[in-house]
Amino acid sequence: MPKLTQTLFISGALVAGLALSPLAVSHFNDKEVMQSYRQSWFAMVATNFGPMVSMLKGEMPWDDARMQAAADQLAQLTAMDISRGFSPGTEKGTTRAKPEIWENMEDFSAKMDDLRSTSAALQTAAASGDRKAIGKAVGDVGQSCKACHDEYKSEDYLY
Ligand code: HEC
Repeated sequence: MPKLTQTLFISGALVAGLALSPLAVSHFNDKEVMQSYRQSWFAMVATNFGPMVSMLKGEMPWDDARMQAAADQLAQLTAMDISRGFSPGTEKGTTRAKPEIWENMEDFSAKMDDLRSTSAALQTAAASGDRKAIGKAVGDVGQSCKACHDEYKSEDYLY
């Protein structure tokens, strides 16, 4: 089968599968829309960050184009204002977001700003193709994830 036809066939099968599967909607809880919104955003952030870390660790072959694409998307995602996802009233539910977030919203927002600026710097580093600079920039993004998780994200679901 030619490659494009094959891809179309596979995506057609996937769409059919999704329409039939009750699991297709399970990531979005319509009683906790904002909790689902922020969690989906973090999932996208992590799915773009993960391959960059894997390439640096040598767990995945280095690919400049893939590195650039992931860095571009991480920068785009983190440029988004996700504060709605943490609006008042979204403290509870199926969440690992600690209540301290809402008591220290200024600090939490500053940590989001750090993620935004380190991700923008990583996008610039990726464009340079300089592996040493990319490695440092990925490390800086990783630090901003960790700084926030250490204070504001629980290991387990809270409620
Ligand atoms: C400013 C704070 C903050 C920053 C920065 C941050 N996180 Fe998080 N992250 C959280 C909080 C809070 C949750 C829990 C959300 C919830 O359960 O409602 C979370 C959840 C997650 C989840 C679980 C999502 C799900 O499916 O429920 C992943 C994965 C994740 N973060 C990865 C990352 C990565 C990777 C980075 C850096 C590139 C990052 N986070 C940066 C605060 C942060």
